[in-house]
Amino acid sequence: MRNAKHFIIVAVLIVISTIILRLLFTWLLALPVAASAQAEPIDNLFNAHFWMIAFLFSLIMVIMLYSAAVFRRKPDDEEDAEHVHGNTALEIGWTIIPTFVVIGFGVWGAFMLNALTTPNPDEIVIEVVGRQWSWTFAYPEYGDFVSTELVIAKDQPVLLSMNSEDVIHSFWIVEFRVKQDVVPGRTTELRITPTLEGDYKLRCAEICGLNHSTMLAPVRIVSAEEFDAWVAEKMAAPKYADMTPAERGALWHSAEGFACAGCHSLDGSLGAGPTWLGIYGRQEALTDGTTISVDDAYINESVTNPNAKIVEGFAADVMPKIYAESFAEKEAEILANEGVEIDIIADLIAFMQTLEE
Ligand code: CUA
Repeated sequence: MRNAKHFIIVAVLIVISTIILRLLFTWLLALPVAASAQAEPIDNLFNAHFWMIAFLFSLIMVIMLYSAAVFRRKPDDEEDAEHVHGNTALEIGWTIIPTFVVIGFGVWGAFMLNALTTPNPDEIVIEVVGRQWSWTFAYPEYGDFVSTELVIAKDQPVLLSMNSEDVIHSFWIVEFRVKQDVVPGRTTELRITPTLEGDYKLRCAEICGLNHSTMLAPVRIVSAEEFDAWVAEKMAAPKYADMTPAERGALWHSAEGFACAGCHSLDGSLGAGPTWLGIYGRQEALTDGTTISVDDAYINESVTNPNAKIVEGFAADVMPKIYAESFAEKEAEILANEGVEIDIIADLIAFMQTLEE
């Protein structure tokens, strides 16, 4: 009867400790917001593990601390303790019960993995490409346009078909819970059904070189209407690859491009900079008294280092020194979107060559 009292007290303490620990985990180890249909079963399994961990920790710690406190040696108790040689029932119990618990979690996980990887008849395909150190997303079912942000419609099941151009990366959006390696020479797949509109972030979760930590991409879950509007806009965007260099040069010169037109006229009229009418091959007198012929090298230099040579009649420090950088950014964007390498200065030169007097 004395033993029963100890068992009841310990059992009650274990239950209380388990609940307190579980609440502590909820507070300390809160899961991020869940934004995909795949998140719910995964979170359920996670939460079951949290309960398990809270219970096992309580089971061991409560029994140990209770014993240390209640059964400690009394003052002037010099007797030996009772010798215990094994407890067959206990040993069978602590072998069989954990075995079935572990197998149970394994079976649960296997069924879930099967459910998460089963094709959905309504799914659309988005092709993901990872490279050091950026992501692109192609939409083959919508004219195969390419985007640097991942945009998906809420409740639209998506099959992500993924490849790497160089080393192993890993596709991970924490709010979706699922994660998948992106491997060169092999196509890996991930299925997602977004459930919560909002802005999220794709992270690379595999150390892949110097700028691994910056290998991020914006992710947006939008309504079906917003998705359709976005797709229409992307499909209507001009394909730079389909334009001639001179056509692109005219675009870069205009306000839609880099607004060179603000200072460089095309009709010979005076601006803050020399007119581009007849500029290619023209002899220009410089402020240092020399004369140069406008060729590719001079144009390159004038874009990247505008103060190097100033044409007579114009001032230094008028042209911004930002173009080398902004051209490089635009070229990288086009490379990501269309997979073609474009040289914007070469486009401008090709455009200038059409501007004969
Ligand atoms: Cu790609 Cu880390």
